[in-house]
Amino acid sequence: MKINILAIESSCDETSASVISDGKILNNIIATQSVHEKYGGVVPELASRAHQQHLIPVVDSALKGSGVSKRELSAVAFTKGPGLMGSLMVGVSFAKSFAYTLGIPLIEVNHMQAHILAHFIEEPHPKFPFICLTVSGGHTQLVLVKDYLDMEIIGETTDDAVGEAFDKTAKLLGLPYPGGPLIDKYAQKGNPNAFEFPISDIHALDFSFSGIKTAVLYFLRDRIKQNPDFIAENLSDICASVQYTLVKTLMQKLKKAAEIHGIQEIAIAGGVSANSGLREALEQTAKQSNWRTYVPKFEFCTDNAAMIAMAGHFKFLKGEFCGLDVVPEARMKL
Ligand code: KG4
Ligand code: ZN
Repeated sequence: MKINILAIESSCDETSASVISDGKILNNIIATQSVHEKYGGVVPELASRAHQQHLIPVVDSALKGSGVSKRELSAVAFTKGPGLMGSLMVGVSFAKSFAYTLGIPLIEVNHMQAHILAHFIEEPHPKFPFICLTVSGGHTQLVLVKDYLDMEIIGETTDDAVGEAFDKTAKLLGLPYPGGPLIDKYAQKGNPNAFEFPISDIHALDFSFSGIKTAVLYFLRDRIKQNPDFIAENLSDICASVQYTLVKTLMQKLKKAAEIHGIQEIAIAGGVSANSGLREALEQTAKQSNWRTYVPKFEFCTDNAAMIAMAGHFKFLKGEFCGLDVVPEARMKL
């Protein structure tokens, strides 16, 4: 009999469902919430309400499109955390009642572990042990991945996530949320050395990104005093310089981690891995340092249920199920 798992992701502002059969992803349905755009960031209360509206149609569409019927499901996997409590609650409650009704087991998944396991959705797969730089709107982590479910955080941000730094800088520039992809777009036409921002190098393999936001804030305030049109006239150069600084900070620590652990299998995951500057820097360093690098397809980089399904599959094989008394964990550790 096949192992068929329905997976649910609802940790932030994407409602997603996916069906996986014997380790092969059959589909990955994602409903993005546009309601947050005008607020310049995710509004938690609106996010949970939108999950409630989207979840049933998204699950329905994932099941129908997969050709797997409810009765053929072996388990339900869901994101337990980390994430927004109200958003997680919608997915967790749904997964519990669905599994209970069908009399099948439940599998809790750590969202950050799932971002890394997205590398096993398609070939080529990284070989163990590898280092994964997970960069999203909520997290910045360097993870030593020893096996599918055996991971160790070797570095992380002590304040803002790098995606947050992209988004907050974009906001200062008057760009809409999420600003990361827009900074990337303008950066491609700009000069990365036009302006200099500080690169923070804190303890060991940890990161700090709150300083750059403040540096950009003061820089813009001073320049706008001299020229009110400074942003409009220099947008591409500012974006390119900010992106250069953020990418350099990430690459410095990634190189250090690879050296310390003697590892040349390097992966990146999370929404910010879509960044063209980061991808370019990764390729360059790979050539210099003989790295083999792995970047998932964009659809599997940002929040999605296919990665939850993949993690669910590995946990199913190990018999790692949870009880109906499971509750979401907003600050769940890896
Ligand atoms: O993984 P993700 O979809 O959601 C979280 O779990 O946070 O990541 C979203 C983050 C946002 O901060 C967004 O601005 C950033 O990824 N992002 C980018 C790019 N595409 C998405 N940042 C920089 N350059 C991009 N091309
Ligand atoms: Zn994520």
